[in-house]
Amino acid sequence: MQTTQLGNTNVTVNTLGIGTWSWGDKLFWGYGDKYGPEQVKAAFNATLDAGVTFFDTAEVYGLGESETLLGQFIKERGQPVDIATKYGPAPWRFGGDAVKEAVAGSLKRLQMGHIALYQVHWPFTFFMGQETLLNALADEVQAGRIGAIGISNYDAKQMREAHDILAKRDIPLAVNQMQYSLLHRNIESNNVLKTARELNITILAYSPLAQGLLTGKYNPENPPKPEGARALDSRFSSQGLQKIAPVLNLLTQLGEKYGKTQAQVALNWLIAQGNVIPIPGAKNAQQAAQNAGALNWSLTPEEVQKLDNATQAWL
Ligand SMILES: NC(=O)c1ccc[n+]([C@@H]2O[C@H](COP(=O)([O-])OP(=O)(O)OC[C@H]3O[C@@H](n4cnc5c(N)ncnc54)[C@H](OP(=O)(O)O)[C@@H]3O)[C@@H](O)[C@H]2O)c1
Repeated sequence: MQTTQLGNTNVTVNTLGIGTWSWGDKLFWGYGDKYGPEQVKAAFNATLDAGVTFFDTAEVYGLGESETLLGQFIKERGQPVDIATKYGPAPWRFGGDAVKEAVAGSLKRLQMGHIALYQVHWPFTFFMGQETLLNALADEVQAGRIGAIGISNYDAKQMREAHDILAKRDIPLAVNQMQYSLLHRNIESNNVLKTARELNITILAYSPLAQGLLTGKYNPENPPKPEGARALDSRFSSQGLQKIAPVLNLLTQLGEKYGKTQAQVALNWLIAQGNVIPIPGAKNAQQAAQNAGALNWSLTPEEVQKLDNATQAWL
């Protein structure tokens, strides 16, 4: 199975992880309506059956429910997995002890003694400075409760600052988790990817399927049903879906050569960027198995270039 070392740390995970925001989240994804515990448990098992053992979650997903479900599934299956979870800065969290408590809360819900990767979910930390927060996380690495430290949604300057704070503790900044897909290439133009490469920080690519757009199942004839949050997103409107049709056609064309789906080609393009780990969400076994199928094969450099050229509008 294809693996990637996280930055300059000694933590190595699969070059693709499964995202679990939708596991327990009612507000955005409608958990409990068209899918529920049975489907996400099947997604968990299908992920492991496909040889992928890396999952991304956060304490805020489903207000703890995503971590809780993962904890139950891990215990039942009894197979080692690598978990990436996230700390959510909040106004009432202002000292190092708050970080300690948050780590303890995640470990409890996950029913684990160790978290492979612990990330700061967003850069705005209210009354807790980055120094306090990152030093508290450095303490957690030294205590062995977390394997590596990551950040998320930090711009290039904020990422460099975080890297420098941790460097004083001789701890590498492992990842910056950023939105990145063929339809959201901002990190290529705003210096985040360039700086990550310079500092050897791995990018975890979130929403790598543009929340389902790159799977090809939504098109002007089949927009998402009005009840979901995506129905309010203009990218999923008839006009929005028409705009991406050429990209979806190219994904189909490239996929035919390899017997791969549009989603698998879109994820493979991200992996081809190097030191990028996509974390596609999966609500059921079929999606999990399909997304895992983006590993262990490669588009040619010419095919990667074709996709680059076709998505210049999203740079
Ligand atoms: N750090 C952050 O701020 C942040 C923000 C967002 C997400 N994330 C992380 O990134 C992960 C992935 O991002 P995301 O969930 O926003 O978007 P995504 O991975 O681009 O899209 C996930 C959605 O696409 C559909 N889908 C996935 N695989 C499919 C397949 N093979 N075939 C057909 N449909 C498929 C499913 O929804 P439908 O079936 O309903 O279409 C699924 O919920 C999250 O789970 C989370 O772990 C992090």
